[in-house]
Amino acid sequence: MLGILGSLARYNLVIALLLILALIPQSIVLYRLQGEAFDNLVQRSPLSRQLNNYSDILLERDYAKELRLFHYGNYIRKLYAKIFGEIYAANCRMRRRKLATSIVFFVLGAAFCTCAFGYAVYWASTGSLNIGDVSLFASYIVLANATLIGMADDCAMLYDTILFMEKYFSFMDRTPEMLCGERKIGADGIASIEFKDVSFTYPGSAGKALEHLSFTVGKGERIGLVGLNGSGKSTVIKLLCRLYDVDEGGICINGHPIAEYDVHSLRSQFRIAFQDFSKYQLSVEENVFLSDVDRPQCDAQVDEALQRVQADGFVDRLPNGKKQYVGKRMKGSVDLSGGEWQKLALARALYKRGSVLLFDEPSAALDAQSADAYWKAMQKESCGNISFFITHYLSGIAFVDRILVLDHGQLVESGAHAELLAKNGLYAQLFRTQSERLLGTEQA
Ligand SMILES: Nc1ncnc2c1ncn2[C@@H]1O[C@H](COP(=O)(O)OP(=O)(O)OP(=O)(O)O)[C@@H](O)[C@H]1O
Ligand SMILES: [Mg+2]
Repeated sequence: MLGILGSLARYNLVIALLLILALIPQSIVLYRLQGEAFDNLVQRSPLSRQLNNYSDILLERDYAKELRLFHYGNYIRKLYAKIFGEIYAANCRMRRRKLATSIVFFVLGAAFCTCAFGYAVYWASTGSLNIGDVSLFASYIVLANATLIGMADDCAMLYDTILFMEKYFSFMDRTPEMLCGERKIGADGIASIEFKDVSFTYPGSAGKALEHLSFTVGKGERIGLVGLNGSGKSTVIKLLCRLYDVDEGGICINGHPIAEYDVHSLRSQFRIAFQDFSKYQLSVEENVFLSDVDRPQCDAQVDEALQRVQADGFVDRLPNGKKQYVGKRMKGSVDLSGGEWQKLALARALYKRGSVLLFDEPSAALDAQSADAYWKAMQKESCGNISFFITHYLSGIAFVDRILVLDHGQLVESGAHAELLAKNGLYAQLFRTQSERLLGTEQA
């Protein structure tokens, strides 16, 4: 580029300088357009996410059955088309402006080249240039003009990349909001958990999920967490695992604030089965030992975990036993029933070593026999360990030492099963409703 401009400057310095100066307004306009396009993209990202959401509902396997049965395909398609139209119109507006700008600069560039060429012809007519110089001069001008326009375009593209990179680096530079200490959980594991006046609201949520919640759990204590839907039971578990930090109050583990602990050391203590557990499209054994991959894989322990949740029966019937890939995604894999998936999630929690058991709705998908066997197994498994069992199946947790009853994020009752029945509060109401329904069905 410099060579061309240098050669051009040897013929006429003013024209070479004018060509370079013409680049300034062009670059400013191009950068501005590129910046606007980027801002539009960022502003429209919620719309783009909504578009992806609609497209997932229309295309993903998880929705396929209900899509057919409820026949809502056209409804979602219309919503998709509306948002797509908005994004498309905004993109078209931006492209038209870019095109108009390019045309203006192209015309100006062509006019400039024509003038410069006219000047060269005039120059030749005065005898200062010969015909060879004129053609060389003209080709330098056309080449320099095209190269400078190309450079301006490339720089604008580079600017676009820089804008993306800026977002990336500012994201990477963010200091984690969750501060972690260095304290490790000792070899004896977790011996006490204390919630002190804990209040918590999910980010972006209007109402509090937990409000002034206080309780203490000591070594070996087994706790049942009970309450209506949305009362905050799963939130207690999430705060304990430090998936979120409390807004007010505090949680102490072994007498120390939870934030003082190294989060990996803390989480390594929890043998957890989430309410919305994951379904890994991997082999059965991987579905089990994934909870503790740092420990050398032990077949006997995988078998034991499967047995304890009564999963060994269906696993033995799979074509490749526990080597069988499960799910729908991989070739040759076999899909499981809802209860079978839950049994794998429970086996995964049991395979892990740790001092605290956290089971959120562990028997929701199990048949009556499996649920009964599971709760009996849990009674044994939880001996000597702090355990939390969240369930709406109240007779399952008859063995626990204490039941905490939550209502709208607050602790409204606490005590053993018999105490709470005698109290005749929310727990007694829930328990009676459940047993009367069962008895009523039996009598009917
Ligand atoms: N990720 C989230 N973001 C915002 N709000 C949430 C989130 N998870 C739960 N909530 C809200 O927090 C409150 C407590 O939810 P939580 O999941 O703890 O209830 P729960 O007692 O486990 O209910 P369930 O018996 O239905 O499982 C609810 O009002 C719920 O809408
Ligand atoms: Mg829950």
